[in-house]
Amino acid sequence: MDKTTQIALVRRTFAHIDAGTTDLDAEVTRNPTRAYTDPEWLAKEQSTLFRKYPMFMGLSGRLPETGAYVAEQVAGLPVLLTRGGDGQARAFVNLCRHRGAPVAQGCGRSAGFSCPYHAWRYDREGRLIAIPDQRSFPGIDRESRGLIPLPLLEKNGMLWLLPEPGAALDDSVLDNHLQGLGAELSAYEFGGYSLYRSEVFERAANWKMPIDTFLEAYHFATLHRDTVAPIFFPNLCLFDAFGLNHREAVIRRSIEELREQPEEQWDFVRHTAISYQLFPNTVLVMQADHVETWRLFPAGDRPDRCMVQFDCYVPEPPATAKAHRYWEANIDLALRTVDAEDIAMQVNMETGYLSGAVDEVLIGRNEPALAHFQRAVHRAVTGD
Ligand code: FES
Ligand SMILES: [Fe+2]
Repeated sequence: MDKTTQIALVRRTFAHIDAGTTDLDAEVTRNPTRAYTDPEWLAKEQSTLFRKYPMFMGLSGRLPETGAYVAEQVAGLPVLLTRGGDGQARAFVNLCRHRGAPVAQGCGRSAGFSCPYHAWRYDREGRLIAIPDQRSFPGIDRESRGLIPLPLLEKNGMLWLLPEPGAALDDSVLDNHLQGLGAELSAYEFGGYSLYRSEVFERAANWKMPIDTFLEAYHFATLHRDTVAPIFFPNLCLFDAFGLNHREAVIRRSIEELREQPEEQWDFVRHTAISYQLFPNTVLVMQADHVETWRLFPAGDRPDRCMVQFDCYVPEPPATAKAHRYWEANIDLALRTVDAEDIAMQVNMETGYLSGAVDEVLIGRNEPALAHFQRAVHRAVTGD
């Protein structure tokens, strides 16, 4: 984030602190509960949001070196990310061209992929290199039976996937998607970050709910009374939209120190937690000195189940036990807050929505980022 933006945001913050205000949306939003409960709506989300938009897949540190790979499900599409011998990151459909078994599971490092079913072998660039008993497959040429590529773009230390075979993903598609946010993200130099720890878990809530939880600070004083409320100002956020994406900053109480410093020294990032909602399904949180990403996926066809993929990246691999303890304490606080408080609350909310007792819930003017996300989802699904 450049200096001019940081100074402007600190000024905005001080004006809000002094006046006891926050950024506001134009009006109260009525949010239909069917967006969280309706299987038909979820099917539309899966075929639009999870297929037609560049999707953030992680920082480059997820594939730290040649041979690194990650297999995961992207809303029903099995995806394999690899880094080839040429250093290039690639994505494939994780599906063997013999009878369709996944050729890799989980993550790790490998010289290639041997299908666990009948041992067809692929190299890390996706080429089919061996068919056991090839005589039984007359007329099948290996060249045209490599893993099916998916469009992947690695840019400024970030991995972006278009989860549709044959679609096009280049700089202009990504820039058009990010609507000006790309330059701000590039300034963080994410390419230097290392993946420290990942967690994947399923919860009984709609996939949008864990995203919603990052998008307002109205709940800090009550729900997070004993975790992050002492660190942040409650009910104070700065919100800026970038097309379907947005930036939302919540403010650490430590920002008051900056009042004593000249403006050119103001460091907004150090005194905030900045949530970038990367449409459709990621919240990337700049946590002053590290990065947490939360990627949310529907779990199967059920609107009331989601997969949470949490990744914590640090500026350099920890070299000492003390550094490990420091990052573990950060992750513990993140998981206690988000999973044990926010998501636990949302599992209960999902039950209430499924009961059919209410058709809509409210988003206050003091929750502008949340309203923006819900509007963006609606717009992208319906084309309005
Ligand atoms: S399904 Fe992969 S080798 Fe048969
Ligand atoms: Fe929260």
